[in-house]
Amino acid sequence: MKILVVGSGGREHALCWKIAQSPHCDELFCAPGNGGIAKLAECVPIAPEEIEELGDFAEREDIDLTVVGPERPLIIGIVDHFESRGLPIYGPNAAAARLEGSKAFANEVVEKAGAPGKQFRVFSSPEEASAYVREQGAPIVVKADGDAAGKGVVVAETVDDALDAIEEVMVEKAFGPAGDRVVIEECLVGQECSIKVFCDGENILPMVPSQDYKRIYDGDEGPNTGGMGCYSPVPVLSDDALEQILTDIIEPTVRQMAEDGTPYRGTLYAGIILTEEGPRLLEYNCRFGDPETQVVVPRLESDIVELFLATIEGRLDAVDATWRDERAVCVVIASGGYPGHYEKGREITGLKEAEADENVIVFHAGTKRFGRRYMTDGGRVLGVTALGRTFEEARDRAYNGVGRIDFEDMYFRTDIAERAVGSE
Ligand code: GLY
Repeated sequence: MKILVVGSGGREHALCWKIAQSPHCDELFCAPGNGGIAKLAECVPIAPEEIEELGDFAEREDIDLTVVGPERPLIIGIVDHFESRGLPIYGPNAAAARLEGSKAFANEVVEKAGAPGKQFRVFSSPEEASAYVREQGAPIVVKADGDAAGKGVVVAETVDDALDAIEEVMVEKAFGPAGDRVVIEECLVGQECSIKVFCDGENILPMVPSQDYKRIYDGDEGPNTGGMGCYSPVPVLSDDALEQILTDIIEPTVRQMAEDGTPYRGTLYAGIILTEEGPRLLEYNCRFGDPETQVVVPRLESDIVELFLATIEGRLDAVDATWRDERAVCVVIASGGYPGHYEKGREITGLKEAEADENVIVFHAGTKRFGRRYMTDGGRVLGVTALGRTFEEARDRAYNGVGRIDFEDMYFRTDIAERAVGSE
């Protein structure tokens, strides 16, 4: 088969790495890809949002399967476009991707499905939103309703912070039309983990759970990032809680989407807060997580292409997935200054040395390849993943790998997986 992956981050490198191992895969392309992906796939310079151009490419090259990494092309309808041209593609269509594209829509579906979500109100007027915040008090969560590229969510510790967030989102339009409406939600307290499932519109097939680190500094301090590291499995998540998440949250949502005529096909990512009262849904995403994919996919023993095909063809009930009974830890290496301003174009050394340990895989996120040299090209640069029999072993192997890599101003957290190591 000829397979195209859309995207350019560590998530897409992990997907390409796994797809390239499938006996189904004869030729692999990635649009636009990155320096590491270029070792596995032919990189095609088309941006993920250029869905017509991607469709033209897939038609011209006779691509048998396209797999979409980031949410934006899904939200703007890449799946609808490909399907209208008879091109097989993995991911939800635009109507289903609203589970990530509109926070109000997601909350409404979850409420209708009777799943344990959170108290929320949706406002089109900043005055009404502000009055509601004053009435509720803090802490409280303010979200731009639409897709704000992973931003537009403020967990406000004080009423003033919440009012400022409403002003920024709705009046200053910091996230454009994503802020036409605002969703005000109760603040859930507890550890966060993510459960992703393959979903064919009716049946789900769960992936192994993972937990990521969103803040930039050790000890969960500083601003939010796309994710600075993660691990899998999640010791704090009991089997009972996982069962509850699947049967009380995800399955009712999937049934509700089908009943409403917008069946969900693709990867459904549930962000869960493990509260004292039990698991509650924080948010849905319509894609694989990043960096979570970098610990989930290395644990997958089954052929991922088989799972993509079973999802597209609506036969997930007839397949199974097997997972390595090992721990996986991923440490993200970023450019100094990220998530604020950072420099690009620094030469990266030590990549081969980091992978000298066969349990270590270095996934590239923001890199460019120039012949045999690799340069930094983004905020999150690399994800160093390691497998081990224990979290301690996996963590030590990942940090050994990190220790071999160098570029000017490189930054990483030093406490990834510490709480998991402590729990074993
Ligand atoms: N790491 C969080 C996300 O992928 O949304």
